[in-house]
Amino acid sequence: MDTDRLLRELNDFLRIPSISTSPSHDADCRAAAEWVAAELRRLGCDDVRFLASETHPVVWGVGPDVPGASTLLVYGHYDVQPPDPLDEWTTPPFEPTVRGGKLFARGAADDKGQVFCLLKAIEADGPRRPPVNFRFLIEGEEEFGSRVLFDLLRREPERTRADAVLIADMAYIAPRWPAVYTTLRGLCYAEITVRTAKSDLHSGEFGGAAPNAHEELARLLGRLKTPDGKIHVPGLYAAVRRPSQRERAAWKRLPFKESEFLKHRVQAKALTGLKSYSVLERLWALPTFEIHGITGGFTGEGAKTVIPAEATAKVSLRLVPDQKLKVVERQLAAAVRRLAPKYVQASVRFLHGADPANVAVTHPAFRLLDQAFKEVVGRGTVPARAGGSIPVVPALGKGGAPVILTGIGLPDDRLHAPNEKLDLKQLWDGIKVFRRFYDLFGARTKGV
Ligand code: BES
Ligand code: MN
Ligand code: MN
Repeated sequence: MDTDRLLRELNDFLRIPSISTSPSHDADCRAAAEWVAAELRRLGCDDVRFLASETHPVVWGVGPDVPGASTLLVYGHYDVQPPDPLDEWTTPPFEPTVRGGKLFARGAADDKGQVFCLLKAIEADGPRRPPVNFRFLIEGEEEFGSRVLFDLLRREPERTRADAVLIADMAYIAPRWPAVYTTLRGLCYAEITVRTAKSDLHSGEFGGAAPNAHEELARLLGRLKTPDGKIHVPGLYAAVRRPSQRERAAWKRLPFKESEFLKHRVQAKALTGLKSYSVLERLWALPTFEIHGITGGFTGEGAKTVIPAEATAKVSLRLVPDQKLKVVERQLAAAVRRLAPKYVQASVRFLHGADPANVAVTHPAFRLLDQAFKEVVGRGTVPARAGGSIPVVPALGKGGAPVILTGIGLPDDRLHAPNEKLDLKQLWDGIKVFRRFYDLFGARTKGV
């Protein structure tokens, strides 16, 4: 494997700041889509095109035709999350840098590095290509809710017709422990805005008698989730399904220690949440409510004595099987209405969301991936759940193909955070693993 060349090529991809949530990066998203398209053409795809190209395009590719062979749909995303806070990066997020065998850059693990891995695996064995009919759907709005691809798949569900769907957008469960994921959490992202008066007021003239938007918002948020970790959205927990005894017992055997998780990954003084549930159950099988940021009032330099009339919180709930996004949206809006005092105008605006995903890992293709990992890294895949979300997964599985959720990241890759990285050993192993998987998948007769 020419790792120097591969690293140079991956760096070209990572240098493109394809931040899908910032309109100022629209051109960069297009450049990243072009990079993917060029790569697909080079791999020999005879039909490469941009779908839904009025926004960040979905790159569609159909591999060289292998008559009679099984079809594998590869899904991934070329967009990345904003890199801020910038001053916490040791080296700039879009100047990929190797330190100690790790490649640091925004998107190194989520998901450009992994898309790269799946593509390079196709040509990892020189000119001999795997006997697989490849289809590619590489989108540019995953980090912003995937609305475009979602609508596209509703209009054109035949795009998902395949014998299996492969997604590498997650991590090993621990070093040397590859995984396949049986659920993803869903997401309900919203802005809660509180208005208390027509305009801001002098805090000396009015303080003590006028309502304060930030105070009201803080109280409202404090009521929505209490310190015990319980979320006070009526009905929210009704659809939540507790994992079976058997599944919970299996989680106990995973290489996961709550104390290590606190010390090395969270790096805080304590863990929070519903204490009567294990940490894995809190991360994988229970809904969450998080506040991402609060704006309004005076946040500039210096001091200004003002009573803010408006305050907004960006929040999200993670959803678990069998919660439904549409139901949770209604429940959240109703809870906010109910918890806000009469004299406060509170409103909720939904930005994006996703239903939770559920996949049975029983299809024969999972055994082949298990075998490929076993051969290359010495251990097969363990079934696990994921706390994160990939909005289109339920739609990708609608046609009946098994959706294989896996990945080559490690739990300490710092996705969405400063100093995101990918261990290069994971990448080189990953290329071998997926190449082996493609060969095994192609070798089995179609439809088995
Ligand atoms: N790759 C992640 C999802 C993920 C991360 C799954 C870790 C499992 C473990 C994906 O790119 C992601 O970050 N998704 C967003 C979706 C959202 C913006 C709609 C997420 O989970 O916040
Ligand atoms: Mn991702
Ligand atoms: Mn992500």
